[in-house]
Amino acid sequence: MESQSSASASSAHEASAQSAAWLESDPSSRLGPERYKFFTSYCQLAAEELLPHLHRIVGHVIILRSSPLTSVKRTAAWKVRPYPYIGQWGFLNSKIAKLPHYSQLLRRATEGARVLDMGCGLGQDLRQLAFDGAPSHSLYGADIEPSFWELGNDLFRDRDRFHGQFIEIDLLAPAAEILARVQVSLDIIHVSGVLHLWDQYSQTKAIRTLVTLSKTGTEICGSQMGRATGSAAPPWIQGSQVPFLHDRNTFRALWDEAARQSKTRWDIEVNITELKYILSGKTDKDWINENTRQLWFRATRVE
Ligand SMILES: C[S@@+](CC[C@H](N)C(=O)[O-])C[C@H]1O[C@@H](n2cnc3c(N)ncnc32)[C@H](O)[C@@H]1O
Repeated sequence: MESQSSASASSAHEASAQSAAWLESDPSSRLGPERYKFFTSYCQLAAEELLPHLHRIVGHVIILRSSPLTSVKRTAAWKVRPYPYIGQWGFLNSKIAKLPHYSQLLRRATEGARVLDMGCGLGQDLRQLAFDGAPSHSLYGADIEPSFWELGNDLFRDRDRFHGQFIEIDLLAPAAEILARVQVSLDIIHVSGVLHLWDQYSQTKAIRTLVTLSKTGTEICGSQMGRATGSAAPPWIQGSQVPFLHDRNTFRALWDEAARQSKTRWDIEVNITELKYILSGKTDKDWINENTRQLWFRATRVE
């Protein structure tokens, strides 16, 4: 698929930013005690400082701001891309820590496995790994939007403590271009909330690219929106691709096709569960229905 020009992409984002159902002004209901503890401890903020800090980063109202740290003008997160991930404070969640095999993944990361978070957004999962003991110099984040990880640097206030690297990548660009940018041997690739942005053709292409970043033993894992019965869904952002949300079988078939095309072999586990972290407020109900599920997967390259 051809990528949109940045001008038309940003006007589509602007239209979506004003009309999306998933804009919530109060993050309190998304911040359970565990997340509250993580954010106050990791960001080194007093309890009463956290909410104003989060509002500054998301910038529901503030459209442009100057960063005191870099003096570069940047858009606040909601204006960059109006995903539920921002509007419904999805970045307060750690997707990686909710993977059923997180303790095994964390053990490998703590022992120095190189981890890439593809589509890392603000980088909350990389910070979760660092908070849980993984050495940050073996953590990598990649995203098409550098503004997200720059805002993440402000959000987490860890410029002097976090030594992970961020790489600007369009996962739908030619694989050779992406390989040239990554240039590290990866043990774990985490990709959550990304493949579900696209149609089946782009998802297959993206998985094939992830495969080119792997070697025997590499694990690719993540979570995303799924469905009890896989089907196409309305675009997340006006004018962007019609995404396909998978069930267990359609996701397996997708992975099998990418493996066949890339002549690799994978052990893959796919699970569909009820959505746990989404609440029952109006903004959830507007875009979630009885067919909506959470999909988890873990694929390990065996050949
Ligand atoms: C819904 S957010 C998910 C963020 C995070 N991984 C999580 O699960 O909380 C989707 C992320 O994918 C990024 N993204 C969208 N298109 C992309 C592309 N073509 N290549 C790389 N990243 C992309 C977005 O900028 C955004 O950060």
